[in-house]
Amino acid sequence: MNKITITEIQKRKREGRKITMLTAYDFPFAQIVDEAGIDMILIGDSLGVVVQGNDSTLSVTMDEMLYHTRIVSRAVEHALVVGDMPFMSFQPGVEDAVRNACRFLQAGASAVKLEGGGAVADRIRALARMDIPVMGHIGLTPQSIHRMGGYKVQGREPEMAGRILADAKAVEEAGAFAVVLEGIPMELGRKITKALSIPTIGIGGGPHCDGQVLVLHDLLGLFDRFHPTFVKTYANLKSQALDAIKRYKEEVETGKFPSEKESYK
Ligand code: KIV
Repeated sequence: MNKITITEIQKRKREGRKITMLTAYDFPFAQIVDEAGIDMILIGDSLGVVVQGNDSTLSVTMDEMLYHTRIVSRAVEHALVVGDMPFMSFQPGVEDAVRNACRFLQAGASAVKLEGGGAVADRIRALARMDIPVMGHIGLTPQSIHRMGGYKVQGREPEMAGRILADAKAVEEAGAFAVVLEGIPMELGRKITKALSIPTIGIGGGPHCDGQVLVLHDLLGLFDRFHPTFVKTYANLKSQALDAIKRYKEEVETGKFPSEKESYK
């Protein structure tokens, strides 16, 4: 399989072929996601919640993101690797955004993603001018949890829907190659997807988006602290892991493991 590029991702929209994206944070899972043929792998700052056990993504640092980006990049042969710019890595200004995005590319990512619409258009424009492919992320933006008052669907009211549509257009105009639409009504997802020439990648953005992204730990049933409506759980690895570990414990305690087979003669 060829390495997926941003040109290929954009071509998919023109051809009406859906785009797939998942998060990954470590070597074995990145290898599995890549082998499954997923188009884009995001080292999401969601790792602050599903890997580190925090309540939000706000405490995730650049150094932590780069550590996971290096690990994931080592495993991926096919997918486009996207590094997620954490809180404080681009909010202070254009200079920080460019420096930190460059660090992601040095760590092995081929693109970066950052949250925000019109308010961060100057940062998206600066990155695009430096030939750093950038993906926008609008709607429910987890780094804005304190403004939103929790992880709530955005754009149900016409005024807010209009603002999100304007954000989508600002992100495209600034030079983003694609945009994540998170936690918005599906009709708004349809409207934005139709209005933009760049691909929209939905997570709780409805079926009309050009592609879909999920947090891997949600899809695999590895994270059960909360379950957003937009998540579909395709496996229950937590209960499988629990069963396996309990069997191991029992076999050690009863002397069944290790047997002669697992011992050196
Ligand atoms: O951090 C993340 O995993 C994300 C996706 C949910 C889009 O931003």
